Amino acid sequence: MKTIVINNQKGGVGKTMLAVHLAWYLAEQVMDDDKEAKVLFIDLDGQGNGGTALENERQSGNSADLFEATRQLPLPGGLGISVMSQDARLHSVEMSSVPQAIRKFRSFQNEKGGYDYCVIDTPPTWGARNFTALAVTDFLISPVEMKEFALGGIKNLLASVEAVETRAREGRRVANLGFLPSRFNSHSAEERQKLQATLDAVGTKLMFPGVIKLRDSYEIALANRVPVWRLPSSSGAKVAAAEIKQILKTIASRMEPAKIEEIA
Ligand SMILES: Nc1ncnc2c1ncn2[C@@H]1O[C@H](COP(=O)(O)OP(=O)(O)OP(=O)(O)O)[C@@H](O)[C@H]1O
Ligand SMILES: [Mg+2]
Repeated sequence: MKTIVINNQKGGVGKTMLAVHLAWYLAEQVMDDDKEAKVLFIDLDGQGNGGTALENERQSGNSADLFEATRQLPLPGGLGISVMSQDARLHSVEMSSVPQAIRKFRSFQNEKGGYDYCVIDTPPTWGARNFTALAVTDFLISPVEMKEFALGGIKNLLASVEAVETRAREGRRVANLGFLPSRFNSHSAEERQKLQATLDAVGTKLMFPGVIKLRDSYEIALANRVPVWRLPSSSGAKVAAAEIKQILKTIASRMEPAKIEEIA
């Protein structure tokens, strides 16, 4: 199972939009056994927007179970997406429950024949849930808005990742797929300038190749609980579908090296 976390400790930057589209996209991938993938989606955000967008997919328990020793994680439920959704217990997850959540997730991650992918959507604030997500993940992708303080947010996130690598991963690196400009308004000179400045400061290695533009179709897709490529055909939906599929294809292809590691 390959695990990817969508995280940025800033609110409203497009984390959930990307996370649910990634789950939908991965679930359509054909695996080595010629079957579609099994994808576990874990909604760690108490706002529950990811779980809501995926409410028509298979429901497989609650993400808070991860933090309770006595609760089991869901068995692979079949092809497609299985969702562990948020509930009120998530708000009271304490740092003290993090070590056992990490142990529990890691043994689940190592089980053979389970899920092919796990996509974790995270809240915009630092705490036990984000610590756990970064501790257990293989990959990280981080949507960023080209707004004021974008660079500060990027630095904060890199510092958080480093802290988790030291404190909970014995130095094992998170494979950072990079910062992905999202909700990007290409008509704004200010945002274009910010994008260039961010690229200059962060470097091409940590900037994801591509941007997700501000488009109504993404919001409409989420409201309709379908990926943007399943919306009734319109020129707006088609352009958005092509844009995000290209991004998702790149993400999926960058998640492949872990497969080679697993075999070796
Ligand atoms: N590229 C986009 N174009 C237009 N609207 C978008 C785009 N991406 C996301 N949205 C919309 O913007 C809002 C915020 O997006 P989203 O919920 O994905 O952000 P988030 O980072 O998960 O927020 P939070 O930190 O609150 O969890 C939502 O209404 C979503 O539908
Ligand atoms: Mg969100």
